[in-house]
Amino acid sequence: MADNPHLAKDLRRILIDEETIAKRVQELADEINEKYKDSEEPLILVGVLKGSFIFLADLSRRLTIPHIVDFIAISSYGKKGDKRGEVRLLMDTRENLAGHDVLIVEDILDSGSTLSYLIRTFGARSTKSVSTAVFLDKPARHEVDIDIQFKGFEIPDVWVVGYGLDYKERHRTLPYIAEMIPEN
Ligand code: IMP
Ligand code: MG
Repeated sequence: MADNPHLAKDLRRILIDEETIAKRVQELADEINEKYKDSEEPLILVGVLKGSFIFLADLSRRLTIPHIVDFIAISSYGKKGDKRGEVRLLMDTRENLAGHDVLIVEDILDSGSTLSYLIRTFGARSTKSVSTAVFLDKPARHEVDIDIQFKGFEIPDVWVVGYGLDYKERHRTLPYIAEMIPEN
């Protein structure tokens, strides 16, 4: 793929192509349909903006169980600097989560601070259950232990874009996952 003439100049290679993504998302949807098939209340999918929006759209359209789509926005500090792992809720869900099974839908698990904050926060709202669906996982970067119920792919410690993920707002809507060439 390195000499793919259609690949942008700041991208090294395609890590996960469209067909592979579609197949995996269907498998995850099958698992989610099975896990919640006997629930009395609809499952609430909570997408973490912005990165999860494409994964959530694809996943939700493959769910056959009753479900509600909702979103939150967060800001996280300390990718650099000393305020590491600090997460702040900028926009909360519209739905009241109490009594519902909640599935947090995230683009990528990196240090784990975002998801650990969200699991704690939603767990304190009388939810029936809180689970997580994560499209990508970088195991080499974990700083906290997180239990992921539905995981798309594990990837190496490289910056990736596409399928909702960006670099400074670039490449977010590429239909595949590509590895960036780091800026120097
Ligand atoms: P965590 O809180 O450290 O797990 O950070 C997760 C967040 O970092 C994700 O939701 C992304 O917004 C961002 N992130 C981490 N790695 C990447 C990447 O390779 N590409 C794009 N965004 C990333
Ligand atoms: Mg994100």
